[in-house]
Amino acid sequence: MVGITGASGAIYAQRLLDCLDAMHEVHVVLSQYAQAVINEELSEGLRLREGIPTHGARSMNVPFASGSNAFDAMVIVPCSMGTLGRIAHGLSSDVMLRAADVMLKERRKLILVPRETPLNLVHIRNMELLLLAGATLLPANPQFYTGAKSAAELADTVVARILDQLGISNSLTPRWREELE
Ligand SMILES: Cc1cc2nc3c(=O)[nH]c(=O)nc-3n(C[C@H](O)[C@H](O)[C@H](O)COP(=O)(O)O)c2cc1C
Repeated sequence: MVGITGASGAIYAQRLLDCLDAMHEVHVVLSQYAQAVINEELSEGLRLREGIPTHGARSMNVPFASGSNAFDAMVIVPCSMGTLGRIAHGLSSDVMLRAADVMLKERRKLILVPRETPLNLVHIRNMELLLLAGATLLPANPQFYTGAKSAAELADTVVARILDQLGISNSLTPRWREELE
């Protein structure tokens, strides 16, 4: 499951979705503010392959709102500080938050990809809570040592780490030393 919030970095969600082929059952959940940022940042809007359902955060009529139907993994990318804080405090007031809460309680993989900078103590404390609860915090910090030449290639340096965490093999971006050989 891929959650998209109103944080900057819609390109990360797009590149991740581009990499999740039909071998994977994928659902997309958009927060209330996600579409506004997608409109700002993705000139063609969000492109989804056929077979990927999209859900608004307000609909609770989805399979993954229940622990009996928990998915293997949920990635929230990009993850706003608002959504991160609400998950940390168990709000569960919409389907994105509920699904994240289910992932934590069922001990499934929940990967949060925040972009925010700088961070304040509230952000750090919320991140600490989430780490203690079992989430993976994977900040959208691209790396520059592989010589990425476009925004998409830079984004892929983060998406490769997300795929690694999901256990999906990929060669999106050269690994350290590989490119030197
Ligand atoms: C262009 C734009 C970029 C934003 N980038 C961020 C960001 O990187 N991180 C963040 O926490 N909020 C960011 N925000 C603010 C969030 O959209 C706002 O806090 C919103 O309430 C988040 O709601 P959501 O978590 O339900 O998506 C941005 C807003 C806009 C309009």
